[in-house]
Amino acid sequence: MTAALQIDGLFKRFGEQQVLTGFSLQVARGEVVGLLGPNGCGKSTVLNIICQLMQADAGQVQLMGQPMMEQSAHAHARTRIGYCAQETALYPDLFPQENMHFFARLYGVPAAQRNARVADLMERFNLIPYAATRAGLLSGGWQQRLSLAVALVHLPELLVLDEPTVAVDVEARMDLWRLIEGLRDSGTTILLTSHHLAEAERLCNRVALMRGGKVVAEGSVPDLLARVPGQAVAKVQSQDPQAVIQRASDLGWPVRQHAGKISLLLPQPMSLREVVDALDGSKVSAVSVDPVTLEDAYLELVDLKHRLC
Ligand SMILES: Nc1ncnc2c1ncn2[C@@H]1O[C@H](COP(=O)(O)OP(=O)(O)OP(=O)(O)O)[C@@H](O)[C@H]1O
Ligand SMILES: [Mg+2]
Repeated sequence: MTAALQIDGLFKRFGEQQVLTGFSLQVARGEVVGLLGPNGCGKSTVLNIICQLMQADAGQVQLMGQPMMEQSAHAHARTRIGYCAQETALYPDLFPQENMHFFARLYGVPAAQRNARVADLMERFNLIPYAATRAGLLSGGWQQRLSLAVALVHLPELLVLDEPTVAVDVEARMDLWRLIEGLRDSGTTILLTSHHLAEAERLCNRVALMRGGKVVAEGSVPDLLARVPGQAVAKVQSQDPQAVIQRASDLGWPVRQHAGKISLLLPQPMSLREVVDALDGSKVSAVSVDPVTLEDAYLELVDLKHRLC
């Protein structure tokens, strides 16, 4: 079956800065894909190109098998995608329903369907108690919720979410996760970006990691975990870090360093006692052992500076 979204070889330069260097990615129908990468690596640029808000210098985007770069496809493509941008696109002086009606009209929802569509989203997103609150006065979490509802008002074939839970509190984040999980479980195709690795782990069927303007690794979370050269991670504190690094290297354990902390990639799960014994003589003052997480895979595949041996 053709992919919902097929992106091939995107290049984009801003002045002297080459931001995208051959970005390719596929999203299957009904799949939730997370695009992760450091600040400024080009995630929003990719989404803006998909949503036709920006043109690539080269490359192709196809939605449901149809190329989107052709001028004639512009207006049409936008009506087929629901986009929650990194900065909210809501009209602050309008009430939630008015925001939805505005975008429903903009994206060509027939007048006869608008009232029912808006009423349904107000209910599904629990927005009814906020019907008399102007969008600009809603809390950050509720604005995100309303943005998500607005992005769905024209029944898009693809939902594109740029950091959907940025700057919201823990409770609002959990709420938004449940909403997005509900959309996923009902078959909505979603491409999202996030800096929140637990969010990607929870919501996404597949994750793509970006570095240097392109995807450097992609797969399901277990696929990416399997690319970490270790079965578990020991975080070690010591008065003699060099001794730890030397000893781990003698044992053949890869050593990583993040924010001054040493992590050792263990060949198999081990108890604290086994790790301390193996590091005998390295003046270990604290140690923890945890299973490998998406954060370890991200650091391993995206942030290459931290590899010590
Ligand atoms: N319209 C523009 N004009 C000039 N430079 C731009 C423009 N849009 C983006 N950039 C630059 O392109 C690079 C990539 O930006 P982009 O917003 O795509 O990154 P990002 O991965 O979404 O980052 P973040 O995680 O911080 O949201 C940045 O260096 C940014 O300054
Ligand atoms: Mg961004």
